[in-house]
This record gives sequence, C-alpha cells and structure tokens, in this order.
Amino acid sequence: MVFKKDFLDKIINITSSAAIACYPHLGKKDKVLVDKAATDEMRKNLNQLDINGEVVIGEGELDKAPMLYIGEKLGTGKGPTIDIAVDPLEGTNFAANNLPGALSVLSISSKGNLFNAPETYMNKLAVGKDVPKDATDLDFSVEKNIKNIADVKNKDISDITVCILDRPRHKEIIDKLMKLNVNLKLISDGDISGALLVTNDKYKVDIFLGIGGGPEGVLAASALDAFDCKFQGRFLFKNDDDISRAKKMGIKDLNKKYDLNEIVRGDSIFCATGITPSDLVNGIEFNNNKYISETLVTHKSSKFTKIIKRENTLKT
Ligand code: FBP
Repeated sequence: MVFKKDFLDKIINITSSAAIACYPHLGKKDKVLVDKAATDEMRKNLNQLDINGEVVIGEGELDKAPMLYIGEKLGTGKGPTIDIAVDPLEGTNFAANNLPGALSVLSISSKGNLFNAPETYMNKLAVGKDVPKDATDLDFSVEKNIKNIADVKNKDISDITVCILDRPRHKEIIDKLMKLNVNLKLISDGDISGALLVTNDKYKVDIFLGIGGGPEGVLAASALDAFDCKFQGRFLFKNDDDISRAKKMGIKDLNKKYDLNEIVRGDSIFCATGITPSDLVNGIEFNNNKYISETLVTHKSSKFTKIIKRENTLKT
C-alpha cells in the first residue's frame, strides 16, 4: 500500500497537536504530566482518523501504560490497516526542564511493515547516504568504521564527527573515539534526533553510534529510510523478562543484527514535531494567540523529506 500525499497532512496534525499540548507544561519539572499531555492528545486525534490502526511501538505494554500501549487499536476502523509507532514525547527530561531537544514523533506503515520492537536497548549505527553501504557495520571495530568513513569522504579522521549518547555504558567506545581524535557530539538524551543528524551535511555529523532505546531505533530507521541512509540495530537484553517478551514478539535470534530494510518495509510516513528547539526543528512558539510548529516529515514512496511549518489558532 502507498499512502496518498494528502494523508501526510493528517499525520502532521497528530504530532503538531501533541507538541502543542506539551507547551503549557514545559519547564514544570513534571515528566509524567508533560508526557501524559502529549500521549492523551495523540491518542485522541489518532482515534478520530479514518484508519484501522494498531500500535506496534508505544508507551509500553497494557499493564505498564494505560494509553498508546503496544497492541492498542486506534482510529475509526474505516480506513487503511496500518501499523503505528509512537513516541508522543521523545526527551521527557528536555520537556520537563524546558531544554532543547524534545520532539513528538510518529511513524506509520501498512500492516506488518514496521518492526515490532521490544522495550529494550538497541545498539545502533547510522550513516548518511554519501557513505557506501558496505563501508560501515555494527560488527566492525570503531576504528575501522571511522577510518572507512574518513576514506570515502576524503577527510582526516580528526575532521570526522561522531554523535553518541553521553552514558557511562559508552565509556570504552568514547575512550577509543578520543584516542582517534575525532570530534564528539555527546548528547544527553534524544537519540532519534541524534541518528537523524546524519541525514544532512549541515548538521556536521558523520556517524551516529551507540546504545539507546530499541523503539527509538525503529522510529529513527523509518525516517532514515526516506533519506536513503544506512541504519543497523541489534537488541540488547538485560534480563530474562526482556528475553521472554522479545520471544513473545516473535524474535528468535536474540543476537541478530537488523538492517534498515528488516525494520521498516514498503511505504512509510514519519513526522517529528519540535516541542522545544533542536538542531532538526524549532520548538513550539506561541504568538498572538497562534501556535507555530515545525515538523520534520518524510514520506518514503514520494521521497518527500521536508520541514513543514504550521500555524494553529488557540482553541477557546
Ligand atoms: P525518554 O523521552 O523516554 O526519556 O527517552 C529519552 C532517551 O534519551 C532516548 O532518546 C534514548 O533512546 C533513551 O532515552 C536512552 O535511554 P537511557 O536514558 O536509559 O540511556
């Protein structure tokens, strides 16, 4: 199934409304409240769409998340049968502390075409379309990946920029990167954005690496697909509980390395609206009773990748 272009508009509305719903709660140091505002708004609006949707990446499973849980059915049931991946508020710390980087994110594909990812960590790698697909790999050493990128881009290793979450678990890899003398872009949260920084030279990121959320990996992959970028991911399981949930979701080989085309197939639409400003998009602005939002939108089949600005009048 190929999504019609007018459907894009409806999906942009979903993430931009969720981002606007966060606006009154920014900087209130209440992660639960701001996340609930985004989730409630996204769910309400998805339920009004003429779709027969099911959440495959969500806020958790039914017992842990009352809304937008994995398996939840959404929409009026009248339209196309689709899989939905949601992260109504990506970067809850950012929103609660009114810091740059919070996004409202959604991706859709036709039924069965988005990977049903467990809520566990994923080791990820993303590079731009200017890097040949065989030049980098999750199974290569850090040194080999960086050297190959420098070679194909005709750059010195010291001019390569690597984006990675700043976490103690990345100490070893960060030490190696420092030894190589690359430029680091250490992000405190928000690795969907981090991965998407490889999509355009203007962001000055040559490779995104490291361990972050698995659901965030699937969402990033769906946008990277429309940009023809490379993405690979491998799930990491902390305990038996994680493993049994993954098995229930149909994952047989727990050590499998997934390429982008195994995570998202066919047509897809991805939208990420800025809640607070970031490298990718501006945050919500409120002027003269109007909310202004910016959404990064991708549509795989039409190769559409654009930042769309919207004005919404305050509802009274
Ligand atoms: P939340 O918005 O759910 O807080 O996620 C933020 C985030 O930074 C993700 O972008 C990332 O994938 C994940 O958390 C990393 O998890 P951890 O903070 O446990 O390292």
